[in-house]
Amino acid sequence: MTDSWRERTHQVGWVLLPLRAFLALVFIYGGLSKIADRRFLDASSPLSIRASVAAVRIGSPISDLLGPVQAHSFGVGVVIAAAELAVGLGVLLGLLTRVAAVGGMALALSLWLTVSWRAQPWYTSADLVYLFALTPLVLAGSGGVLSADAWLERARRARPGVGEDRTRRALLAGGVAVGAAMLMAGSTLFRRTGHSAAAGAGGPAGSATAPGSAASSGSVPPSGSSAPAGAIRLTAVADVPVGGGHMVTDSATDATVWVLQLQRGQFTAYDATCSHQGCTVDFVSPGDGFACPCHGARFDAQGQVVNGPAPRGLTAVPVVVDGADIRTR
Ligand code: FES
Repeated sequence: MTDSWRERTHQVGWVLLPLRAFLALVFIYGGLSKIADRRFLDASSPLSIRASVAAVRIGSPISDLLGPVQAHSFGVGVVIAAAELAVGLGVLLGLLTRVAAVGGMALALSLWLTVSWRAQPWYTSADLVYLFALTPLVLAGSGGVLSADAWLERARRARPGVGEDRTRRALLAGGVAVGAAMLMAGSTLFRRTGHSAAAGAGGPAGSATAPGSAASSGSVPPSGSSAPAGAIRLTAVADVPVGGGHMVTDSATDATVWVLQLQRGQFTAYDATCSHQGCTVDFVSPGDGFACPCHGARFDAQGQVVNGPAPRGLTAVPVVVDGADIRTR
């Protein structure tokens, strides 16, 4: 690296400092919040990474790659949380800044191709913005501003050989420390996950089963009603658990649809597209309704907005029971 290039990137380093601080905060917060929320790794939770991957597979351009991710969601979840922490710390400390920025771009790219691929309009995807916001750090690094890399470089120059060894030792020790912390966090969460899965065996879906007595607006007529000509089959009645939901694809529109049976024999359906930026919402439970994994919007089980940023509710899909099937009306 020439002295003039070093000087130029040093000046740019000061300019990039606010962006660097913001991106570091975002990635550290993202990693810590995943570790702190045990539902993220709990495969039985509708808010888990497993459920999110299942929801975004339909329509993702890399859906074939998501099968193994879904099958090994626990390990992938731990790696993602660790990677976000590592990227955030690297950017914050100016330690291997370019490597950290490339890692952050890989994470943002994978999120864009999955979670926010359906953002409407496409340029409103936050992951796409993060992807490009990291490019200046790939090009200029920290510029030697408030940077562990610069400090280590000075130490290496001051004491050739000794400083280099220290650099290696510091990086190795840091990597081992982060890996150990993540393993401890992962094993703790794994134990908790085991408990909650056991409790869930008789859990939310079973205990939410309701007798099919109460009337429900928007629900379909009892089994046996005839479907109109051209009605599209969505799923089988038997696939929709009582007190739960089943996600399907409407073959006519290619839309992802949640079919619910909140009370026995009462079926409703909603387009799973979040009205904020088009992510696919997860159905949590009759009491908690729907959750959007992208920016936290919540909807009740009737599709109405409970928490923003979604500007309006989910679109209801009229359905009818036709023998053993549920069809659009
Ligand atoms: S896409 Fe942003 S909250 Fe759903």
